[in-house]
Amino acid sequence: MVALGLTAEQVTQFEKDGYLLLPGELSPERVKALYDETSKLLRDFDITTHPLTRFSTEEKAHIGDDYFLTSSDKVRFFFEQEAFDEAGKLTRPKEKAINKIGHALHNLNEHFFADTINDRNRAIARSIGFEDPLVLQSMIICKQPEIGGKVPSHQDSVFLYTDPPSAIGFWYALEDCTAENGALSFVPGSHKWAQIAKRMIRMNGIKEGTGFIPIDGKETPREPTDGEFIMPTCPAGTLVLIHGSLLHKSETNRSQKSRYAYTFHMIEGGEGYTYDKLNWLQIPPTPEGGANFTHLYA
Ligand code: FE2
Repeated sequence: MVALGLTAEQVTQFEKDGYLLLPGELSPERVKALYDETSKLLRDFDITTHPLTRFSTEEKAHIGDDYFLTSSDKVRFFFEQEAFDEAGKLTRPKEKAINKIGHALHNLNEHFFADTINDRNRAIARSIGFEDPLVLQSMIICKQPEIGGKVPSHQDSVFLYTDPPSAIGFWYALEDCTAENGALSFVPGSHKWAQIAKRMIRMNGIKEGTGFIPIDGKETPREPTDGEFIMPTCPAGTLVLIHGSLLHKSETNRSQKSRYAYTFHMIEGGEGYTYDKLNWLQIPPTPEGGANFTHLYA
């Protein structure tokens, strides 16, 4: 059976809003398979050898350690900021302490591979005009009960930068997402007025971590007001497509319920687009040289 892409109406909606909800994209069976696999990954990983990397999206936070920067071809575990007490000890079981798992699930885990590299996603990519989509990275976001970290308003292309910007996020809810457990919210249409004015880069050498540099000639987008954000209902199984320039965020999860999601990003690898060596996330080279990107259409 030939997989269908987006309808003309869906493409128009995506172009207008900068995001698109596709409820029921994953069947209940696939949601369960990915949820169960996430639980297994959390159960099986060895905390005794873990460098206790704590991931934060706050710019000032230290996220630039080796464990993070060399994760593009691995499945690694990053803790919630609030999972530790003042003495640096975990305050809860590891299964309830991990913020996210990344960044090569799409290559290294058969379940996540199956829901990433497939004909439906090829058809969606074609619908929105990708010539040579490269699956750059993938993550499970756990958004744990009580401590699931907030993600301030941001644009994904700042973190996954190509020249010109081209990132698109595929974001799958593995549990129902509500205002209580930290659902995503978006500023509709902001991808049209909010330029990509900075980018996250790897500083000089792994030990110096990451930082941000401005993009010449681009204007820093104004901070949207709370009233501009829309938080759509997002039942488990929903796919949300997110334009790389769209302003979006999520709040801290203070509820007793987690908010598991699976997300991957693609960038344009076609003519006229570059992904350069400044990017914090570097894909190891092929034996012939050049980054060993995962081509969705190949
Ligand atoms: Fe994002």
